[in-house]
Amino acid sequence: MTVCVLHVAAEMYPLLKTGGLADVVGALPPAQMQLGTDARVILPAFPSVVAGLTQIEHVADLGPAFGLGNVRLERGVLAAHSVVVYIIRADAFYDRPGNPYLDASHTQYADSDRRFALLGWAAARVANGADPAWKPHVLHAHDWHAGLAPAYLRAWERQTGVPRIPCVITVHNLAYQGVFPAAGFGVLQLPADFFSINGAEFYGHISFLKAGLFYSDRITTVSPTYAREIQTHAQGAGLDGLLRTRTHDISGILNGVDKTVWNPATDTAINAQYSIGKFAGKDKCKAALQERMGLAREPGALVFGVVSRLTEQKGIDLLLSAIPDIVQRGGQLVVLGTGDPALENGLKNAAAANPRAVAVELGFDETLSHSIIAGSDVVMVPSRFEPCGLTQLYALAYGSLPLVHCVGGLADTVVDASLENLADELATGFVFEKFDRAAIVAAIRRAFALKARRLEWKAVVHRAMEQDFGWEASALRYANVYQELTGLQSA
Ligand code: ADP
Ligand code: GLC
Repeated sequence: MTVCVLHVAAEMYPLLKTGGLADVVGALPPAQMQLGTDARVILPAFPSVVAGLTQIEHVADLGPAFGLGNVRLERGVLAAHSVVVYIIRADAFYDRPGNPYLDASHTQYADSDRRFALLGWAAARVANGADPAWKPHVLHAHDWHAGLAPAYLRAWERQTGVPRIPCVITVHNLAYQGVFPAAGFGVLQLPADFFSINGAEFYGHISFLKAGLFYSDRITTVSPTYAREIQTHAQGAGLDGLLRTRTHDISGILNGVDKTVWNPATDTAINAQYSIGKFAGKDKCKAALQERMGLAREPGALVFGVVSRLTEQKGIDLLLSAIPDIVQRGGQLVVLGTGDPALENGLKNAAAANPRAVAVELGFDETLSHSIIAGSDVVMVPSRFEPCGLTQLYALAYGSLPLVHCVGGLADTVVDASLENLADELATGFVFEKFDRAAIVAAIRRAFALKARRLEWKAVVHRAMEQDFGWEASALRYANVYQELTGLQSA
């Protein structure tokens, strides 16, 4: 029998994206469908989600919830991969300007507890058969936004005595936990005893992520190293105790690259397509990037690229400290990002001080992100912590060598160009161990040194492009998790 899985999430590429979560929710279901799994997604009906779907049909009235009148469940199709997407129509919650979490002035919405409780609640309704034409065998929640779905299923099972379907939660980032004041617990329509240390309570507050971790049958995270890191006090963000009690239920499954979106041989967002055998296009992409960003048109300058949320996680402060070392060696830096105003200002100041060598674009720009990944020689991801990271995977596929901090998924996907790894033909990029200026500068120096050895550089670039981080392998690993829970095989 085909396994039916319902993914519960806040974002899905190309409908709506603020980060890698969207890339994963956009790519994993089609990869699962290739294996024979019937994978569907449920999302809040944000304006761009509604606009991006075709064949939208009414499925069910879910009735009043969380102070709203009637909540409607609809079903549409994301044409690109024929993925069926359920949407929750509650315009008072979701039909707003800004992104899913912040209003137009970058302030968090005050009612996000109810907005995302509704996501979990509606997902649980679908799990319990709200669509007469389809019922999942597994519910797969992503991040805190979906964290209450397993709790609602548990509550429903207790109330009705009917066994619920099993739940998996994937932690894309433990730093975002969906923590809200306890005073709001009453409106969440959960049993009172769910607000306890064995439940959704977290240091006197409600934590959606903790609820998800507690009430799910299996926990996955997006790389093997991060799966270990989050079980330590240092990196467990207060949840390591709970995670250690679930250690046998936790697995790390690496994200992949959606090759229909990120492939230099077919990418229409870049200036010229290229592949290992036809590499000239990459030089054109570099020249076009220098031109577009107002940098000196020097083919020999080593171009470092960054595409990132500008937050503490991403180590942009460390990058700022290393800019002089890039510029003094004749290198160039291109940054695309948006986020923390202090980091935005720091980058703008660096660009103003080095107008021909440092260029910064503030904002979210999908097309430019492709141009930077393709046009850079080196793509930097100096994150303090990184659950998986996708930009370094895209960089590998585009032959732009990643320069990364040795944490989480970065440690699992990039091999440092040390003398030993070069000799063993393993190197794919530059990895620094300690999170400090000396270490990142040493990695930058190694990049310049390798670039000067033309043939060795070329060999590493080819090896990087040959790495296979496709979704197939990861989809198989998720299929194993579902099989353990349901007894059903995917294919
Ligand atoms: P995270 O999810 O923590 O932000 P990832 O590396 O997993 O980190 O994914 C980030 C995704 O968001 C990538 O697809 C990256 O290209 C994209 N991205 C980040 N910032 C921007 C931006 N300013 N403009 C366009 N794309 C961006
Ligand atoms: C999160 C993480 C990132 C990961 C992405 C997709 O946003 O910060 O490391 O790649 O989710 O799983």
